[in-house]
Amino acid sequence: MAEKLWGSRFTGSLGLLAQKFTYSISYDAKLAPYDCISGIAHARMLGKVGIIASKDASAIIKGLEKLLADIEEGRYQPDLTAEDIHSDIQTKLKKLIGAPADRLHTARSRNDQVVTAVRLYCLNHLENIMARLDVLQIAMIRFADKNTDVIIPAYTHLQSAQVVLLAHHVLAYVEMFERDKERFSDAAKRVSLNTLGACALSGTTLPTDRQQVTKELELLATSANSMDSVADRDFLIEILSDIAITGMHLTRLCEDLILWVTSEFNFISLDDAFCTGSSIMPHKKNPDVLELIRGTASRFPGRLMELLVLMKGLPLTYNRDMQMDKPALFDAVETLEDMLPLMAELFGGITVKRDVLKQRINAESFFSVDILDYLVKKGASYRQAHDTVGLMVKECLDKGASLRDLSREQLRIFSPLLDVDVKDLLDADVSVRGKKSFGSTNPKMVRKQIDIWKKRLA
Ligand code: ARG
Repeated sequence: MAEKLWGSRFTGSLGLLAQKFTYSISYDAKLAPYDCISGIAHARMLGKVGIIASKDASAIIKGLEKLLADIEEGRYQPDLTAEDIHSDIQTKLKKLIGAPADRLHTARSRNDQVVTAVRLYCLNHLENIMARLDVLQIAMIRFADKNTDVIIPAYTHLQSAQVVLLAHHVLAYVEMFERDKERFSDAAKRVSLNTLGACALSGTTLPTDRQQVTKELELLATSANSMDSVADRDFLIEILSDIAITGMHLTRLCEDLILWVTSEFNFISLDDAFCTGSSIMPHKKNPDVLELIRGTASRFPGRLMELLVLMKGLPLTYNRDMQMDKPALFDAVETLEDMLPLMAELFGGITVKRDVLKQRINAESFFSVDILDYLVKKGASYRQAHDTVGLMVKECLDKGASLRDLSREQLRIFSPLLDVDVKDLLDADVSVRGKKSFGSTNPKMVRKQIDIWKKRLA
């Protein structure tokens, strides 16, 4: 049984069931490198200001560096009978360097130690997530770039609405993922806070130099209130909220792609590497990877709620409840980290069914707004034009007729502003090229956006 950091006050020992229930080493062992890194900075500061002898500081630093190397090279074996990874590192350090190890915990408490290690974990993983979002965006831009000439139907209410460039649709998600990155980057500013040295909750009577630790850990600021330092987990709630938003974006992308691979839509096909078959229906090719990204993303809002409920109503400062921030955090962060490269890879394996799509973009209804704009340009009010086009659509639907077949005279019945040149608008290419507004699906503008993204992501 591993040694406790707090044994002397007790005569009895924690019951076995209680141990099993309260120990966190099974899930917090991944904080090991961050605990060593913050321990090294702490020991260096203690030595420098003379709170401990510099030879003890050196011994501690060397010991922790050795443990850090063990962790990085996969040699570190957490002792699962230890209460948590922080206790385990302390014990292992003592075994390694002897008595000086007992001075590491000077002017430090597990309360500030835990939150600092978690902050360092978050900073590292926020970098990972942002880099992986970059990779996904690059894959999507590459896909858009290859398909700038492809036009697809676009939907509102999942009813055919207008035609757009496939690249325009894909770029919509690239924009969303960019905002996701901005949110992560913004969150990182608040995560980058040195909370070490707050000690249990009120600071210390020892002459620590917290600023030096901040500098050594390369953090942006030193926390200004020792109680806030150990009590809050708002930075985790913020990260989980940002993850939930990114996850939501991913599920929408999955859903669009899942629709597009159905035989009803049939816009694209996926590489076999991302699909599975059916045990009973030999013709099936199911988009399981997309479905499972969509499904697994449901954990993100769940984990966010878990942390909000965990923290709600907790009195200041540290409460043991807060140990449960870790399963939620690690699960959300690492699940998202798994999804992003998978999605990027999947984009490389999409085949666009150009011939099918060519047949799908001719329906006259796609161009109703273009005809409406035509009438407005000729002086009709928007309301008038809307009524006119509405009547034309109704008439054609009722009679099974096509606008393409209407003569000049027949067109004039709907509006004196109509002429046969309106029929030129019944063309997907003309429709997208006709768009003028900034941010529209106009191919020249989409081309420009692709070039901007390429530069930005290079
Ligand atoms: N494993 C615990 C956690 O993650 C360590 C903190 C225990 N601190 C204490 N004062 N009992 O929260």
